[in-house]
Amino acid sequence: MEIRSMTIEDYDEIYSMWQITSKRALCKADSRESIEKYLNRNKGMSLVAVADGKIVGTVLAGHDGRRGFIHHMAVLPEYRRKHIGNKLATEAVKRISADGIDKTHIFCYRDNFTGQDFWTSLGFKKRGDLFVFSKE
Ligand SMILES: CC(C)(COP(=O)(O)OP(=O)(O)OC[C@H]1O[C@@H](n2cnc3c(N)ncnc32)[C@H](O)[C@@H]1OP(=O)(O)O)[C@@H](O)C(=O)NCCC(=O)NCCS
Repeated sequence: MEIRSMTIEDYDEIYSMWQITSKRALCKADSRESIEKYLNRNKGMSLVAVADGKIVGTVLAGHDGRRGFIHHMAVLPEYRRKHIGNKLATEAVKRISADGIDKTHIFCYRDNFTGQDFWTSLGFKKRGDLFVFSKE
């Protein structure tokens, strides 16, 4: 298994993967144009895991100059529980930190208990003191 930076050439493969792993979280911000913009804004931080000649894991990583944010942390079902997610997330946080960012946030649906166990295992603390407010 190899971990490397995501490029826009990966788009079709990762978008197909997200149809399986992350359908609920997909939105307009996942169009090819938006992902290309995101990768250009946060150069070298988003990653893919490659095994058996295909992409089996993804993480979108970036920061706003103050805090890091991670999206679309995902591993194909048949490759789970092999610590691929762990390696992707650890490397993503390392790359965000290398830019001088000392805290990274993730969003996780309340009923996504696997996601919560995963982030907890990586040392992320579940916040009970915050709501997320969003505006379109
Ligand atoms: C969450 C996800 C990325 C984890 O990927 P993974 O490669 O299977 O995770 P890892 O093997 O690195 O697991 C690391 C640790 O997380 C925890 N964990 C992972 N999956 C778990 C599960 N199904 N149940 C309980 N704990 C789990 C464990 O502590 C695990 O360590 P262990 O296997 O030594 O016990 C994967 O399940 C996935 O793609 N889920 C669908 C998308 C998703 O929900 N993403 C998170 C959005 S917030």
